[in-house]
Parts: sequence; C-alpha cells; structure tokens
Amino acid sequence: MKVTVVGAGNVGATCADVIARREFVHEVVLLDIKEGIAEGKSLDMWQTAPINLYDTRMYGSTNDYAKTANSDVVVITSGLPRKPGMSRDDLIATNAGIVRSVTENIVKYSPDTIIIVVSNPLDVMTYCAYLTSKFDPARVFGMAGILDTARYRAFLAEAINVSPKDIQAVLMGGHGDTMVPLPRYTTVSGIPVTELISRQELDAIVDRTKKGGGELVNLMGTSAWYAPGAAAAQMVEAVIKDQKRIFPCCAWLQGEYGLKDIYLGVPVKLGRKGIEQIIELKLNKDEMELLNGSAKAVKEVMEVLDGMNQPASK
Ligand code: LAC
Repeated sequence: MKVTVVGAGNVGATCADVIARREFVHEVVLLDIKEGIAEGKSLDMWQTAPINLYDTRMYGSTNDYAKTANSDVVVITSGLPRKPGMSRDDLIATNAGIVRSVTENIVKYSPDTIIIVVSNPLDVMTYCAYLTSKFDPARVFGMAGILDTARYRAFLAEAINVSPKDIQAVLMGGHGDTMVPLPRYTTVSGIPVTELISRQELDAIVDRTKKGGGELVNLMGTSAWYAPGAAAAQMVEAVIKDQKRIFPCCAWLQGEYGLKDIYLGVPVKLGRKGIEQIIELKLNKDEMELLNGSAKAVKEVMEVLDGMNQPASK
C-alpha cells in the first residue's frame, strides 16, 4: 500500500510522520513544489525509524509526480495557511489554483486513488479537487470534522476532567465559524455530556470549538498542524485498513439533509472504497437551522469558485 502526501509544510509533514509511525502502509511519498524540502523532511523522518521503531519507507519528491504513481490514497495539504486576521475563505484564489494543478497531476499518475483534501477553505477546496478529478465523489472528500471534534473533545476532557479517549462526539457543517457541534450526540462513555457539565460551560466549549482554528492562528501566527495532520492520517488509516469507521467528513451531498450539490461536513462511514455511506441523523429544528446556515456560508464560497472557473467573457 502506498500513500502520497502533497505539501511538505507543517500539516503535510505531520500527517506523513503519523502515517509512517502507525505502519499501515509500506510507503509514504511526500511531495512539495519547493526544491529539496520534501526530500529533506522525509529523510529526517526516516532517520527517526530506528528510534520510533517502524519500517514504513519514506520518500521525498520535488514536484515529480511520477514518484507518486499508483498511490492508494493521496492527501492534499498544499496551499497557503492562514495568517492572523484572515478567514479560511480569504485563501480561495491562491489555493484553488494550487489544488487544481495538484489534482491534475495526481489523477494522471494515480487514476484509481482516493483523494483526501486538507487545504483551506476546506469545503470549497474539496469541491475544487472533485471538479478537477472528475472522480466519483465517494473517492474525493475532505478532512475537517475529525479535527473539529478532536478540539471539542479535548476541551470537554479538560473541563470534565476525564480521559479524552472516552468522549464521543459528532459535529457537522462547514469547516468555519458556522460549524455545528451537536451536544445531543456527545457522550462520555455512553453518558450524555449534558449530565456531566452545565449548559453554560457546554455553550462556552461549543463556541471555543467553532473558533478553535483561529485561536491557534492568533497564538502562533500561522495555522495549526499537529491535530490537522493526525486527523488526516486517521482518515487514511480508516481507508487503507477498510475499517468502516464513522467520522464526520466533508462529503458531497446529493439530497441528504435536504441539501444538494454541496460539499459539507456530515457523519460518514469510511472504508476501502472511500465514503461508503452518508449517515443521516434525525436533526431537530434548531440543529437543522444551524446546518442550513452553515451550508449557505459554504455555498457562497463554492459560488466564488464556480465564478473563477467560468471562461472570461469577451
Ligand atoms: C485549522 C485549520 C488547519 O482549523 O483549518 O486549524
């Protein structure tokens, strides 16, 4: 099994590192457009293999997509990260061009691959990879929900003083401030979270989760990488091992939740074929309203991309 991670920045390198350590593929190729950086980082990581005790082979490539040929899964992390004061949507023009050209190259060398998009603005970059690849949307999806629920679960674990391992949660909508955490579907080892924390504290955590990416951008001057990289690696693992895990992922909706022709975060089943099922929860009126609000925000940015794809008028 072979995985390619495109983009050897912080997120891509972290993702490659987590995949290598977990030993579920034989080979990880890291590719970047900057001369030497992917080779350097993959060599540095490979030199941790005798210390971290893994035998996954690591290879680096400066924009030579032939080295990515026949990948089973490709993770696209390329693009500019956010700077303080920027929204994820501010990145669209630059990152759409990058994601389009990366996708064209990937498809050329790995026509049967599964594509996991991590670049921002996430939902719209996933749409961009889908349009460019012309793949079945079951094979093109985005990483956001695992990251956003991980933040939510980490905040809850701290507030309730329990192990983060025991917190299950689902979160829907776009990867932005309109995301929809669902306290009704949040449990601590099966116990509804509402029995363990006050409404007020829970609301504060939901609010912090929505702005979780921005909190880190403000602290570090650039966007996060440990949790985004690990979250993408977890999706790759679910696909490669055909785990049938249920995760919130950015998926192409065709009528689910009453939404059509949109990429949005929903719970899905991930296995060897990619998205094997979209799970439709019975949302109540308030939850549905929040989801529709989030869909509207994502759709507006998708339309900006559609506008950029129109041939210039004469
Ligand atoms: C974040 C970026 C990676 O949420 O979108 O940290």
